[in-house]
Amino acid sequence: MKAMILGRNGQLGWALERRLQGLPGLLALGRDELDLADPAAVAAAVDSARPTVVFNAAAYTAVDRAETDRDAAFAVNARAPEALAAACARVGSILVHYSTDYVFDGRKAGRWVETDPTGPLSVYGASKLAGEQALAASPCASVVLRTSWVYGDHGANFAKTMLRLATERDALRVVSDQHGAPTWAGRLAEASEAIARQALASGDAAGWLGERRGVYHASAAGETTWTDYARCVLSVAQTLPPWADRLKVRAEQVEPIPASAYPTPAQRPANSLLDCSRLADTFGCVMPDWRGDVEAYVRRLAAA
Ligand SMILES: NC(=O)c1ccc[n+]([C@@H]2O[C@H](COP(=O)([O-])OP(=O)(O)OC[C@H]3O[C@@H](n4cnc5c(N)ncnc54)[C@H](OP(=O)(O)O)[C@@H]3O)[C@@H](O)[C@H]2O)c1
Repeated sequence: MKAMILGRNGQLGWALERRLQGLPGLLALGRDELDLADPAAVAAAVDSARPTVVFNAAAYTAVDRAETDRDAAFAVNARAPEALAAACARVGSILVHYSTDYVFDGRKAGRWVETDPTGPLSVYGASKLAGEQALAASPCASVVLRTSWVYGDHGANFAKTMLRLATERDALRVVSDQHGAPTWAGRLAEASEAIARQALASGDAAGWLGERRGVYHASAAGETTWTDYARCVLSVAQTLPPWADRLKVRAEQVEPIPASAYPTPAQRPANSLLDCSRLADTFGCVMPDWRGDVEAYVRRLAAA
């Protein structure tokens, strides 16, 4: 595998780089080395590196800022993947790309499947959907892993924010009417590597993945709300130094509030639950329940 990772300083890019460390010729690029807002630079980078697989973990992920920064969000989330896919098709590289539950409007009663109609509520969701569509229209052999509520060992996320706020504030009110599954970036990296290795092992990576190309839902099993996710994080933290003595809010004190009481510039879906059977059936990738990974994550943060 001659792998190229884009977005190396993000949560997922960092996890991918750690996972693939030691691979000869591994090329991991951050914004400083490659600006995805420049499609010509994206094409040139792929043309010169000629990787066998590209993992595109770079994205414009500032969901609320995107509402007033539409051009930047579409440049990185839609036009860059389009340029990337064209370059990958040219050099025969396979492409693993990522998308989001925010392509849905959240109004379905059950879990979303890949063929459900999309209906993004936000500019970010619309820009990620445009990226998916650009890949679908390209001859590139690509998979898009749609995931949800990502947290990684490197970078900012909800879990770290809850830990900080619980040491600073006397009360924590957290949204309880949005449902989803927090997904550890390490699990996504694991699934991404497994897909790429299966494709490369076939001897014709582009042909093999080309037959399986498309969108796959890829999130942790189980379900929760932001309130119960916050409670899970604090319930582990309050048993461990350094937080045991510092937390001003304990897990059981987290107050549930409706999303309507916490207005944000971008609207989020009420139901973000993804049905991941297609990923399991096609590639054999199954992610465990979210809770065990979140608990292990908080223990790692405490030990760090
Ligand atoms: N985070 C979530 O909750 C979530 C949920 C569902 C889906 N996803 C998707 O999962 C994937 C990985 O997300 P993540 O959580 O790892 O995101 P992240 O931590 O925000 O990382 C994104 C990376 O993209 C880089 N980037 C942004 N604009 C760039 C540009 N113009 N040129 C080059 N690099 C640029 C950022 O660089 P800087 O470090 O320099 O800013 C950052 O390192 C994305 O496709 C995202 O849409 C995420």
